[in-house]
Amino acid sequence: MDSVEALKQQAGIEACKFVKSGMKVGLGTGSTVKHTVIELGRRIKEEGLDIVGVPTSLATETLAIKVGVPLVELAECDSLDIVIDGADEFDSEFNLIKGGGAALLREKIVAQESQAMVVVADERKMVDTLGAFPLPIEITPFSHHATIRQLTRLLDCRVNCRMAGDNPVVTDNGNYIADAHCGPNLSQPVELEIEILKIAGVVQVGLFNNMCDAVVLARKSGVETIINPNGRITN
Ligand code: 5RP
Repeated sequence: MDSVEALKQQAGIEACKFVKSGMKVGLGTGSTVKHTVIELGRRIKEEGLDIVGVPTSLATETLAIKVGVPLVELAECDSLDIVIDGADEFDSEFNLIKGGGAALLREKIVAQESQAMVVVADERKMVDTLGAFPLPIEITPFSHHATIRQLTRLLDCRVNCRMAGDNPVVTDNGNYIADAHCGPNLSQPVELEIEILKIAGVVQVGLFNNMCDAVVLARKSGVETIINPNGRITN
């Protein structure tokens, strides 16, 4: 296992300390939270942890079934106790860019149904100002060129339709992803999220503002849990 993968594993496993028997747990998407799902499966088998999960993507659903995490539909739950998910970037205000794995819509729906959100990340994800990572925006296939033009005008930067070879990447919801190459200057993500969501054709944007309560951050020097002082998790 290379060193970045080892950090992802450490963060993913450490975040499981937030999960207790009886909880309904949102299961995020990506290569870091994958380790959380595997660890929850281990605790279910070896320690009798009694939880149910709600996956944020078909990929996570497949993994959760494989490692033995029982799943329920979000519609069956009044709310979730917690969601654990990855991020592409987070800033000092605990605002996030997500959607590198094209799962941002389901991730945001699950996060808004959760009473707490814990992000698992390695140190490369911590930034002063969001935007070096291209901002993922889920858009409808219908007239996607026009939507991308609107986004380009609003953001004043290059916006690409994410491709898999010659074809657009299709999300679990049948939509496309536009990636906006804004650069590290998204200093007002709350206002920006509102403006982007006004464009017809935009389904959702990968800015997760005021949602994250804690980051479990793996650095080469060790794993640290940073609690958002304005969040819903108290020590
Ligand atoms: C998927 C996401 C992921 O959580 C994000 O891309 C981080 O993934 P990874 O842990 O693989 O770096 O938002 O839509």
